[in-house]
Amino acid sequence: MKSIELAAFLGGLVLCSAAAASTELAQAKQCMQCHKVKEAFAGPSFHEIAQARKGQRDAMTKMVVTIRRGSNATGGPHWGAATMPDMKERPEVSQAEARTLAKWILKQ
Ligand code: HEC
Repeated sequence: MKSIELAAFLGGLVLCSAAAASTELAQAKQCMQCHKVKEAFAGPSFHEIAQARKGQRDAMTKMVVTIRRGSNATGGPHWGAATMPDMKERPEVSQAEARTLAKWILKQ
């Protein structure tokens, strides 16, 4: 294998494992009890969220706050009547984990 091919291959592996790790994180933090990637469920789909938030300057900050403190913390609900609860009702999410999840959601 030429080195450029090898680099592309390894790059692909890293991207794949990062995406898989984020999916696992979302499952471990019980995000998937209310969200699906492509379809609306109890909460908006991650794809819809990405479409709405992409390109907004404060998207990351707002999403991280919502992920950690629930949608009331950002003046929500923004999507419907349902609010996303804060961490008292779900597993704790650190600031770093919330950033990882927000970045992953923006790519859906
Ligand atoms: C109990 C159900 C529930 C759980 C668990 C939950 N969510 Fe939510 N989430 C919602 C609902 C409902 C909304 C819509 C709130 C609104 O209208 O603002 C929402 C909104 C969001 C938003 C904000 C969308 C925007 O307007 O910017 C993000 C991001 C998000 N959720 C990510 C997550 C992540 C990541 C997790 C896991 C750590 C998670 N959610 C767990 C129900 C949930």
